[in-house]
Amino acid sequence: MDENLISRILDEKGWNVLDELGYGRYGFVYKIEDRKSHKVYAVKVMIASEDPDDDDDFSETNIEDLDKEIRILGKLTEYKQCGLVPCLHSTFRVQKRGRMYAFIIMDYIEGKTLNNIWEDLSIEERKNIMKLIILGIKTLQSIGFIHLDLHGNNIMITKNMNVYFLDFGISCIQQPCWAPIGGWYTPPEHNKNDEKKEYNSVFSELSDIYQLGLLFGELILQSDIIKSTFGDDIYERCETIQTEWEKLKNKDEYSYWRKIIPQMVKCNPIERPTASMILREYETGEIISVKEIIEINNKLVHFYKESEGSDIIKTSSLISLN
Ligand SMILES: Nc1ncnc2c1ncn2[C@@H]1O[C@H](COP(=O)(O)OP(=O)(O)OP(=O)(O)O)[C@@H](O)[C@H]1O
Ligand SMILES: [Mg+2]
Repeated sequence: MDENLISRILDEKGWNVLDELGYGRYGFVYKIEDRKSHKVYAVKVMIASEDPDDDDDFSETNIEDLDKEIRILGKLTEYKQCGLVPCLHSTFRVQKRGRMYAFIIMDYIEGKTLNNIWEDLSIEERKNIMKLIILGIKTLQSIGFIHLDLHGNNIMITKNMNVYFLDFGISCIQQPCWAPIGGWYTPPEHNKNDEKKEYNSVFSELSDIYQLGLLFGELILQSDIIKSTFGDDIYERCETIQTEWEKLKNKDEYSYWRKIIPQMVKCNPIERPTASMILREYETGEIISVKEIIEINNKLVHFYKESEGSDIIKTSSLISLN
């Protein structure tokens, strides 16, 4: 990964690099300024290699993955979700030394990641942020969006306590959502090759609920529950950690969340409350029973046969979840 090369390309295109904002598996993110207008943006740089022998870690990203993130961000921008995601400004690619460098220029979000800010928040602020995250994801779900890589570094909180979602490398914006595995909190319904077929093998908006449940649970319990089970069978992992969520019961100060989170992390998606149900529980203080959740979800879920014969779940958020 040649950071000098990236700076040089940006410089040639008229951008000054102001700061390094972060990096993940495939992307480097910088704060940049348009030399002419002095407007500030963020740029995510991703690298794909066509050479299978390229021993740089980034060679795993292929051109299709790059396109996917750009396409999703483009759609979210088209649907005017700029209050919840950094909207797309422009994109360009440069081919150098057998590698493709894709630059995604988007709104710069001034804030901190949820992981970084959590410690500094009061309990009231934390509860409010969790509610805002559910509200935000509900809004994004209303246009058929499923994030699928929700974790504490892909959510940002601004000074005014606004919530932004980042990183759409494995997101879906249409249903059914057959996304590749690879997120931090992989939901147990990722069982495309699983023989048990206990759960349906496609992701839905309830997969995002699962990820948020894990995230909130880990933050409140201040533990790395998931990390400790990496490498285990994906179902067993979910079943094993179910007992961990019992610990939330002692967290009196987190009122409804301590009861809602164990529901959000149910291994079977149909037993998880939707974002609307969570918000309703939050407002009314009444916790919906698993039986009721299943009943409501069943009304919303359409099962149908894929050509290869597996049952898949189609909880379309386009069918009203309210
Ligand atoms: N628009 C933005 N404004 C400000 N900071 C950003 C922005 N986009 C990303 N960041 C920062 O950069 C970090 C990495 O960004 P992002 O999650 O998009 O890339 P990534 O983790 O490399 O992607 P992947 O998970 O696909 O490897 C974020 O956690 C955040 O701190
Ligand atoms: Mg990320």
